[in-house]
Amino acid sequence: MSKLLPHSRIYCAVDTPDLAQARALGQALRGSIGGLKLGLEFFGAQGRAGVEAMATLGLPIFLDLKLHDIPNTVASAVKALVPLGLRLMTIHAGGGSVMMKAAVEAAAEAAAKTGVERPRILGVTVLTSMDTGDLAEVGVHTQPRDQVLRLAALAEASGLDGVICSPHEITALRQARDPGFLLVVPGIRPAGAAVGDQKRVMTPREAVDLGADYLVIGRPITASPDPAGAARSIAQELDEQLDQELEV
Ligand code: C5P
Repeated sequence: MSKLLPHSRIYCAVDTPDLAQARALGQALRGSIGGLKLGLEFFGAQGRAGVEAMATLGLPIFLDLKLHDIPNTVASAVKALVPLGLRLMTIHAGGGSVMMKAAVEAAAEAAAKTGVERPRILGVTVLTSMDTGDLAEVGVHTQPRDQVLRLAALAEASGLDGVICSPHEITALRQARDPGFLLVVPGIRPAGAAVGDQKRVMTPREAVDLGADYLVIGRPITASPDPAGAARSIAQELDEQLDQELEV
């Protein structure tokens, strides 16, 4: 397992279009999490000014826009986004190796030019909303899991830093991919928390134990009356795991 402070593994999914609400949440969570994940909902409502406003809180930003277009367009979009100073960002691995390579090159180029750290680029493999029938409908006649493994291999070969994966794909990906290839995992629920619309969940501790690098956690933190306390107790759960490992 890579050495990270327990709380720095947690990216809180800020799924709101409201800037004041997002900022209040980010402010409350400073020091208790590793970063904030902003997605299409927030970006659609607040745009890059919203991302800049969130970045002033000082927490690393994971901008989850799942880019997917022709290589030139994705590269241009990446170049436009890198100056925001992002830690993590996403593109669709299904866009192909040429698109992924173009994104990685564009990120390195834009980071060098603007003097910001190059964001780690993560591939989205198969959306967890898609099952075997949905894949067949778009001409992919394979099991979702096999397609995930295939696209993750292509992502790594194309220079991506990691993938987003469901908790149940961690083991297979950890075995198949380089140890440094990042696995960023949503669908996480602390023991006893409400599952909501997530169908296949895992506890933070189980996910990290299997080899997850970062955990994307939304409602168990954001819907809590005490978001910072909820995040701290998740970090504490991960810390206990580290203690146990040190004792072995
Ligand atoms: O509230 P919850 O913890 O379910 O939030 C999880 C976050 O991770 C949301 O932003 C959701 O869109 C995202 N996500 C997910 N499952 C995936 C990919 C992304 O829940 N397979």
